[in-house]
Amino acid sequence: MKTVPLVTVLAAVGATSCGQKPVSYAEARSIIDLRCVECHSSQPTNRAFPFAVMGVKLDTPQQMRQYASRIKARVVVEQTMPIANMSGMTDEERQILDRWVESGAKIP
Ligand code: HEC
Repeated sequence: MKTVPLVTVLAAVGATSCGQKPVSYAEARSIIDLRCVECHSSQPTNRAFPFAVMGVKLDTPQQMRQYASRIKARVVVEQTMPIANMSGMTDEERQILDRWVESGAKIP
């Protein structure tokens, strides 16, 4: 079996222990807008969820930051959000949100 250096594996998943590529708020925002706010907003557009589900609103930078650890838990670790992946989130987007949280959940 061919062995792959650990550093290669880590780089492939975007998870180097030192110097992760930081993800900007703008980049994380665009993914949250695309995949989450239809259900998690003060004015959700998903007709199945006409109220902010569980009170979780992700409209503002502060709200995104407030939920950063839950975003990591549900989107990256458990992968149970978006629910049933109804909004069609990609693995790459999960990794970008992971890096946003891990690089300090920066907001403007
Ligand atoms: C189609 C609607 C829908 C979409 C899209 C959606 N969610 Fe949810 N979300 C729910 C529902 C329903 C619940 C409550 C049930 C549950 O917790 O599994 C919930 C609960 C949550 C909770 C609170 C529970 C906890 O574990 O803290 C968080 C945080 C959350 N979602 C984050 C997100 C994020 C981040 C996204 C985008 C990647 C997202 N959701 C996309 C419907 C949705």
